[in-house]
Amino acid sequence: MKKIIVALAFMALPGLTAASGGEGFHLQTAPIDLHNKASLQKGAKLFVNYCMGCHSLEHQRYNRMARDIGLTDEQVKENLIFTGAKVGDTMKNAMPKAEAKQWFGVVPPDLTLIARSRGVDYLYTYLLTFYQDATRPFGVNNAAFPNAGMPHVLWELQGMQKPVYKVHKDRDGHETKVLEGFELAQPGSMSPPEFKQAMADLVNFLAYVGEPIQLERQRIGIWVLLFLGLLCVVFYLLKKEYWKDVH
Ligand code: HEC
Repeated sequence: MKKIIVALAFMALPGLTAASGGEGFHLQTAPIDLHNKASLQKGAKLFVNYCMGCHSLEHQRYNRMARDIGLTDEQVKENLIFTGAKVGDTMKNAMPKAEAKQWFGVVPPDLTLIARSRGVDYLYTYLLTFYQDATRPFGVNNAAFPNAGMPHVLWELQGMQKPVYKVHKDRDGHETKVLEGFELAQPGSMSPPEFKQAMADLVNFLAYVGEPIQLERQRIGIWVLLFLGLLCVVFYLLKKEYWKDVH
Protein backbone atom coordinates (compact mmCIF):
# COMPACT_ATOMS: atom_id res chain seq x y z
CA MET A 1 0.00 0.00 0.00
CA LYS A 2 2.80 2.36 1.01
CA LYS A 3 4.60 1.66 -2.26
CA ILE A 4 1.53 2.50 -4.27
CA ILE A 5 1.13 5.82 -2.49
CA VAL A 6 4.78 6.71 -3.09
CA ALA A 7 4.44 5.75 -6.75
CA LEU A 8 1.33 7.89 -7.10
CA ALA A 9 3.07 10.83 -5.47
CA PHE A 10 5.91 10.58 -7.96
CA MET A 11 3.51 10.36 -10.87
CA ALA A 12 1.89 13.59 -9.74
CA LEU A 13 5.21 15.44 -9.48
CA PRO A 14 5.77 16.43 -13.13
CA GLY A 15 2.25 17.82 -13.24
CA LEU A 16 2.86 19.94 -10.18
CA THR A 17 6.09 21.45 -11.45
CA ALA A 18 4.55 22.15 -14.84
CA ALA A 19 1.69 23.99 -13.17
CA SER A 20 3.93 26.21 -11.11
CA GLY A 21 6.46 26.85 -13.87
CA GLY A 22 3.96 27.70 -16.56
CA GLU A 23 3.02 31.27 -15.85
CA GLY A 24 6.08 32.48 -13.98
CA PHE A 25 6.83 36.15 -14.45
CA HIS A 26 10.22 37.16 -13.10
CA LEU A 27 9.92 39.08 -9.83
CA GLN A 28 11.45 42.51 -9.48
CA THR A 29 13.59 43.28 -6.45
CA ALA A 30 11.80 45.61 -4.07
CA PRO A 31 14.15 48.45 -3.03
CA ILE A 32 12.92 48.67 0.55
CA ASP A 33 14.64 50.34 3.50
CA LEU A 34 13.04 49.94 6.91
CA HIS A 35 15.19 52.75 8.33
CA ASN A 36 13.68 55.28 5.94
CA LYS A 37 10.90 56.82 8.05
CA ALA A 38 9.74 59.18 5.28
CA SER A 39 9.22 56.19 3.00
CA LEU A 40 7.32 54.28 5.71
CA GLN A 41 5.06 57.29 6.29
CA LYS A 42 4.32 57.63 2.58
CA GLY A 43 3.59 53.91 2.43
CA ALA A 44 1.19 54.17 5.38
CA LYS A 45 -0.63 57.04 3.70
CA LEU A 46 -0.98 55.10 0.45
CA PHE A 47 -2.24 52.10 2.39
CA VAL A 48 -4.99 53.86 4.31
CA ASN A 49 -6.07 55.81 1.21
CA TYR A 50 -6.03 53.08 -1.42
CA CYS A 51 -6.05 49.67 0.24
CA MET A 52 -7.89 49.85 3.54
CA GLY A 53 -11.29 50.09 1.90
CA CYS A 54 -10.91 46.38 1.22
CA HIS A 55 -7.94 45.14 3.25
CA SER A 56 -7.42 45.33 7.02
CA LEU A 57 -4.25 45.12 9.12
CA GLU A 58 -5.92 43.33 11.99
CA HIS A 59 -2.77 42.76 14.02
CA GLN A 60 -1.43 46.29 13.81
CA ARG A 61 -2.48 49.13 16.13
CA TYR A 62 -2.53 52.74 14.93
CA ASN A 63 -0.56 54.08 17.88
CA ARG A 64 2.10 51.39 17.62
CA MET A 65 2.49 52.25 13.95
CA ALA A 66 2.68 55.96 14.80
CA ARG A 67 5.53 55.42 17.23
CA ASP A 68 7.48 53.09 14.94
CA ILE A 69 7.30 55.18 11.79
CA GLY A 70 7.94 58.49 13.53
CA LEU A 71 4.52 60.13 13.82
CA THR A 72 2.59 61.46 16.79
CA ASP A 73 -0.82 60.08 17.77
CA GLU A 74 -2.32 63.43 16.71
CA GLN A 75 -0.81 63.23 13.24
CA VAL A 76 -2.19 59.73 12.82
CA LYS A 77 -5.64 60.77 14.04
CA GLU A 78 -5.75 63.68 11.64
CA ASN A 79 -4.22 62.12 8.54
CA LEU A 80 -4.46 58.36 8.68
CA ILE A 81 -7.69 57.36 10.42
CA PHE A 82 -10.75 57.46 8.20
CA THR A 83 -12.75 54.70 9.84
CA GLY A 84 -13.74 56.45 13.07
CA ALA A 85 -11.37 54.15 14.96
CA LYS A 86 -9.53 55.26 18.09
CA VAL A 87 -5.79 55.64 17.97
CA GLY A 88 -5.29 52.57 20.19
CA ASP A 89 -7.44 50.34 17.96
CA THR A 90 -6.24 47.76 15.47
CA MET A 91 -6.39 48.72 11.80
CA LYS A 92 -9.64 46.99 10.86
CA ASN A 93 -11.93 48.13 8.08
CA ALA A 94 -15.67 48.12 7.63
CA MET A 95 -15.80 45.79 4.63
CA PRO A 96 -18.60 43.25 5.24
CA LYS A 97 -17.14 39.82 4.45
CA ALA A 98 -20.26 38.31 2.87
CA GLU A 99 -20.71 41.24 0.49
CA ALA A 100 -17.01 41.27 -0.37
CA LYS A 101 -17.27 37.66 -1.42
CA GLN A 102 -20.17 38.52 -3.67
CA TRP A 103 -18.37 41.46 -5.26
CA PHE A 104 -14.95 39.91 -5.80
CA GLY A 105 -15.54 36.16 -5.60
CA VAL A 106 -13.09 36.06 -2.65
CA VAL A 107 -12.79 38.01 0.57
CA PRO A 108 -9.82 40.42 0.32
CA PRO A 109 -7.25 38.94 2.71
CA ASP A 110 -5.92 40.70 5.80
CA LEU A 111 -2.49 42.06 4.86
CA THR A 112 -0.72 42.19 8.25
CA LEU A 113 1.50 39.23 7.42
CA ILE A 114 1.42 39.32 3.64
CA ALA A 115 5.01 40.57 3.29
CA ARG A 116 6.20 37.58 5.27
CA SER A 117 4.02 34.97 3.62
CA ARG A 118 4.55 36.12 0.04
CA GLY A 119 7.81 38.09 0.16
CA VAL A 120 8.46 41.75 -0.63
CA ASP A 121 9.62 41.14 -4.21
CA TYR A 122 6.35 39.42 -4.98
CA LEU A 123 4.33 42.31 -3.49
CA TYR A 124 6.33 44.89 -5.43
CA THR A 125 5.92 43.01 -8.70
CA TYR A 126 2.23 42.39 -7.99
CA LEU A 127 1.56 46.11 -7.48
CA LEU A 128 3.47 47.08 -10.63
CA THR A 129 2.06 44.53 -13.04
CA PHE A 130 -1.68 45.04 -13.36
CA TYR A 131 -2.47 45.17 -17.07
CA GLN A 132 -5.43 45.52 -19.40
CA ASP A 133 -7.29 42.27 -20.08
CA ALA A 134 -10.84 42.52 -21.38
CA THR A 135 -11.55 38.87 -20.56
CA ARG A 136 -11.34 39.50 -16.79
CA PRO A 137 -14.29 40.77 -14.67
CA PHE A 138 -12.56 44.07 -13.78
CA GLY A 139 -10.86 44.44 -17.17
CA VAL A 140 -7.40 43.80 -15.71
CA ASN A 141 -5.11 40.90 -15.07
CA ASN A 142 -1.87 40.61 -13.13
CA ALA A 143 1.50 39.18 -14.12
CA ALA A 144 2.59 38.09 -10.64
CA PHE A 145 -0.82 36.67 -9.70
CA PRO A 146 -2.57 35.53 -12.90
CA ASN A 147 -6.36 35.94 -12.78
CA ALA A 148 -6.26 37.81 -9.46
CA GLY A 149 -9.68 38.91 -8.24
CA MET A 150 -8.49 42.39 -7.29
CA PRO A 151 -9.28 45.43 -9.46
CA HIS A 152 -6.43 47.77 -10.46
CA VAL A 153 -7.16 50.21 -7.66
CA LEU A 154 -4.16 52.41 -8.45
CA TRP A 155 -4.89 52.93 -12.13
CA GLU A 156 -5.39 56.66 -11.64
CA LEU A 157 -1.83 56.92 -10.35
CA GLN A 158 -0.13 54.44 -12.66
CA GLY A 159 -2.35 54.75 -15.73
CA MET A 160 -3.23 51.63 -17.67
CA GLN A 161 -0.63 49.36 -19.21
CA LYS A 162 -0.99 46.97 -22.10
CA PRO A 163 0.77 43.60 -22.15
CA VAL A 164 3.60 42.98 -24.62
CA TYR A 165 3.95 39.34 -25.63
CA LYS A 166 6.77 37.45 -27.27
CA VAL A 167 5.98 34.38 -29.32
CA HIS A 168 8.09 31.33 -28.58
CA LYS A 169 8.23 28.52 -31.13
CA ASP A 170 9.32 25.09 -30.00
CA ARG A 171 10.93 22.45 -32.23
CA ASP A 172 7.59 21.10 -33.41
CA GLY A 173 6.45 24.53 -34.48
CA HIS A 174 4.02 25.02 -31.59
CA GLU A 175 3.73 28.66 -30.70
CA THR A 176 3.20 29.95 -27.15
CA LYS A 177 2.69 33.55 -26.15
CA VAL A 178 4.86 34.64 -23.25
CA LEU A 179 4.27 37.87 -21.36
CA GLU A 180 7.41 39.89 -21.77
CA GLY A 181 6.63 43.34 -20.44
CA PHE A 182 4.26 46.26 -20.69
CA GLU A 183 3.68 49.49 -22.50
CA LEU A 184 1.77 52.38 -21.01
CA ALA A 185 -1.46 52.72 -22.99
CA GLN A 186 -2.84 55.56 -20.90
CA PRO A 187 -0.69 57.63 -18.56
CA GLY A 188 -1.67 58.18 -14.94
CA SER A 189 -1.08 61.11 -12.61
CA MET A 190 2.37 59.75 -11.70
CA SER A 191 5.26 59.13 -14.08
CA PRO A 192 6.49 55.49 -14.20
CA PRO A 193 9.52 56.21 -11.93
CA GLU A 194 7.28 58.06 -9.46
CA PHE A 195 4.85 55.17 -9.40
CA LYS A 196 7.65 52.65 -8.83
CA GLN A 197 8.91 54.73 -5.92
CA ALA A 198 5.39 54.93 -4.46
CA MET A 199 5.04 51.14 -4.67
CA ALA A 200 8.45 50.71 -3.02
CA ASP A 201 7.16 52.90 -0.15
CA LEU A 202 3.97 50.87 0.10
CA VAL A 203 5.86 47.56 0.16
CA ASN A 204 8.31 49.04 2.67
CA PHE A 205 5.36 49.84 4.92
CA LEU A 206 3.91 46.32 4.53
CA ALA A 207 7.32 44.83 5.32
CA TYR A 208 7.41 46.89 8.52
CA VAL A 209 3.84 45.83 9.43
CA GLY A 210 4.74 42.17 8.89
CA GLU A 211 7.39 42.41 11.59
CA PRO A 212 7.21 45.64 13.60
CA ILE A 213 9.88 44.46 16.02
CA GLN A 214 12.48 44.15 13.23
CA LEU A 215 14.04 47.57 13.69
CA GLU A 216 14.04 47.33 17.46
CA ARG A 217 15.64 43.91 17.27
CA GLN A 218 18.47 45.26 15.15
CA ARG A 219 19.01 48.13 17.58
CA ILE A 220 19.04 45.81 20.60
CA GLY A 221 21.22 43.35 18.68
CA ILE A 222 24.03 45.87 18.40
CA TRP A 223 24.02 46.43 22.18
CA VAL A 224 23.95 42.69 22.79
CA LEU A 225 27.04 42.23 20.61
CA LEU A 226 28.84 45.10 22.35
CA PHE A 227 27.95 43.59 25.72
CA LEU A 228 29.28 40.18 24.67
CA GLY A 229 32.48 41.81 23.43
CA LEU A 230 32.96 43.51 26.78
CA LEU A 231 32.26 40.26 28.60
CA CYS A 232 35.00 38.56 26.56
CA VAL A 233 37.53 41.12 27.74
CA VAL A 234 36.47 40.67 31.37
CA PHE A 235 36.64 36.87 31.11
CA TYR A 236 40.03 37.03 29.47
CA LEU A 237 41.37 39.16 32.30
CA LEU A 238 39.79 36.82 34.86
CA LYS A 239 41.34 33.81 33.18
CA LYS A 240 44.74 35.44 33.31
CA GLU A 241 44.24 36.20 36.99
CA TYR A 242 43.14 32.63 37.88
CA TRP A 243 45.92 30.89 35.98
CA LYS A 244 48.79 33.15 36.84
CA ASP A 245 50.14 30.93 39.67
CA VAL A 246 49.54 27.59 38.02
CA HIS A 247 52.66 27.51 35.82
C1 HEC B 1 -11.73 47.10 -4.16
C2 HEC B 1 -11.17 46.23 -3.18
C3 HEC B 1 -9.66 46.15 -3.08
C4 HEC B 1 -8.78 47.19 -2.85
C5 HEC B 1 -9.12 48.66 -2.69
C6 HEC B 1 -7.48 46.60 -2.77
N1 HEC B 1 -7.55 45.25 -2.91
FE1 HEC B 1 -6.02 43.94 -2.74
N2 HEC B 1 -7.28 42.38 -3.04
C7 HEC B 1 -8.64 42.50 -3.27
C8 HEC B 1 -9.19 41.18 -3.48
C9 HEC B 1 -10.64 40.85 -3.76
C10 HEC B 1 -8.13 40.27 -3.37
C11 HEC B 1 -8.15 38.74 -3.50
C12 HEC B 1 -7.70 38.38 -4.89
C13 HEC B 1 -7.75 36.90 -5.17
O1 HEC B 1 -7.44 36.10 -4.28
O2 HEC B 1 -8.08 36.56 -6.32
C14 HEC B 1 -6.94 41.06 -3.08
C15 HEC B 1 -5.69 40.53 -2.87
C16 HEC B 1 -4.57 41.25 -2.54
C17 HEC B 1 -3.28 40.69 -2.23
C18 HEC B 1 -2.97 39.21 -2.12
C19 HEC B 1 -2.33 38.68 -3.34
C20 HEC B 1 -2.02 37.22 -3.15
O3 HEC B 1 -1.01 36.80 -3.68
O4 HEC B 1 -2.77 36.52 -2.45
C21 HEC B 1 -2.43 41.73 -1.97
C22 HEC B 1 -0.97 41.65 -1.61
C23 HEC B 1 -3.20 42.94 -2.11
N3 HEC B 1 -4.49 42.61 -2.46
C24 HEC B 1 -2.67 44.20 -1.92
C25 HEC B 1 -3.41 45.36 -2.03
C26 HEC B 1 -2.85 46.67 -1.84
C27 HEC B 1 -1.41 46.95 -1.46
C28 HEC B 1 -3.86 47.55 -2.03
C29 HEC B 1 -3.78 49.05 -2.01
C30 HEC B 1 -2.95 49.64 -3.02
C31 HEC B 1 -5.07 46.78 -2.33
N4 HEC B 1 -4.76 45.45 -2.32
C32 HEC B 1 -6.32 47.35 -2.56
C33 HEC B 1 -9.39 43.67 -3.29
C34 HEC B 1 -8.87 44.93 -3.11
